[in-house]
Amino acid sequence: MKGVVLAGGLGSRLRPLTAVTNKHLLPVYNQPMIYYPIQTLVNAGVKDIMVVTGGNSAGDFLKLLGNGSMFGLKHLNYTYQEGEGGIAQALALAEHFAAGEPLCIVLGDNLIEGNICRAVRAYRHQGGGAKILLKKVHDPQRFGVPEIDGKRVVRIEEKPQQPKSDYAVIGIYMYDAGVFDIVRTLKPSARGELEITDVNNAYIERDEMTWDELDGWWTDAGTFESLLHAGRLVAETGANKMEVQGANKD
Ligand code: DAU
Repeated sequence: MKGVVLAGGLGSRLRPLTAVTNKHLLPVYNQPMIYYPIQTLVNAGVKDIMVVTGGNSAGDFLKLLGNGSMFGLKHLNYTYQEGEGGIAQALALAEHFAAGEPLCIVLGDNLIEGNICRAVRAYRHQGGGAKILLKKVHDPQRFGVPEIDGKRVVRIEEKPQQPKSDYAVIGIYMYDAGVFDIVRTLKPSARGELEITDVNNAYIERDEMTWDELDGWWTDAGTFESLLHAGRLVAETGANKMEVQGANKD
């Protein structure tokens, strides 16, 4: 399985902090935001990673991350997204890198307390399709929200005014190589983006979607409130704690 961190977009909700730099280079407590999603992949044993960047200061990712030696990596791959065409558009740029292998995608502004080892192991045994991770939240209107029937996700709505559950679909997704054909069928949403929620609904319609609930805290860091909250969580409890045993084993 290969990993992709999506760190494109213009970070407009964080202006003026993002007027001259990229959102994912901003600090979350004592580390640049981009460190956390890369560590999430590395902790799950995913070592072949591409960073999709875009917008301002793209060259600074190379200066900051180099070949990823601070994560114990020998190499990091990079690509550049023009504009802000959406999460699914950024994902499409990883097709050549994926080369037919399954992918674990992590949004560059998503931080977790623990790790995703269990979910990655389960996905490896699933043999194709997709897997999402859910977390209970008090403000589901801000996120992709699943409608759940027993163990099945029936549909996901992006930022619904009347959410059908109090779960958020967090920004960590596992897909087989068919994801790129799905992205090619997408049309821009009302906000002008190719939506990752439309990708997930396509897998749900094919009955090829599973989900797990994430342990430990999860937050995004793309608004002033959530950026502050993320910094506090990291300072108080730490992020990306390794699994005690068997973190990188199948
Ligand atoms: O944080 C989880 C949520 O992320 C999900 O619950 C939603 O379903 C999903 O749509 C997304 O919602 P946001 O509106 O918060 O996404 P945002 O536009 O903030 O983008 C999140 C990350 O995705 C961003 O940090 C970098 C990457 N991205 C985003 C866009 C729009 C790109 O790489 N390129 C893009 O064009």
